[in-house]
Amino acid sequence: MEAEVTLIPFSSTEVTLLRGWLVAPHVAAWYADPEDHVEWAANPPPGGDRALIVVGGQTVGYVRWQTVSREILDSVGLHEIPAGSVDVDILIGELEFVGRGIGPKALLILLSQLRQRRDVPLVGLTTRVQNLSAQRAFTKVGFRVLREYSPPGYGRCYLMVYSFSEDA
Ligand SMILES: CC(C)(COP(=O)(O)OP(=O)(O)OC[C@H]1O[C@@H](n2cnc3c(N)ncnc32)[C@H](O)[C@@H]1OP(=O)(O)O)[C@@H](O)C(=O)NCCC(=O)NCCS
Repeated sequence: MEAEVTLIPFSSTEVTLLRGWLVAPHVAAWYADPEDHVEWAANPPPGGDRALIVVGGQTVGYVRWQTVSREILDSVGLHEIPAGSVDVDILIGELEFVGRGIGPKALLILLSQLRQRRDVPLVGLTTRVQNLSAQRAFTKVGFRVLREYSPPGYGRCYLMVYSFSEDA
């Protein structure tokens, strides 16, 4: 039987665990500025939150999400994305748990929580164009590539989006 995936609250004592994941080569390849992420996790800004991904009792990854304002969206050239959309970042930090479908399951849990809020027009994930594993994982739960863009410092990326209004 497959182990259940859950999201549990992140507490600031877990920053050391997160830092270790962010500098692991399979994550660092896609996440610049680990200390920025650590600081964000320790003190999320208004509209931001994060959780740990747990499978079979083991803590294996991290997901964070942030409601984005018109100002932030315009600053990265995403003029067509509605304000109040939610931006998500995810990582499976424990290498032996990568490629086991845990990322998609964690995203489904988060999507279900965001759906219940009823105030989220769109959920977005940004992946580097070269990050094919991430694109495959996000496609499995219904994200689609909206377009390419280049947020400062990240090079060519795809904006992948999920809209609750497209739910069957
Ligand atoms: C992207 C990520 C969250 C996806 O979660 P996941 O649980 O690994 O997702 P999946 O198990 O569905 O695997 C997705 C794809 O990864 C690839 N993959 C499988 N095993 C892999 C491995 N050991 N190493 C790298 N990629 C692998 C496969 O292409 C797989 O697609 P497939 O199942 O259609 O063949 C996770 O791989 C991860 O954290 N990677 C490192 C950090 C990262 O890239 N974060 C996203 C930044 S946008």
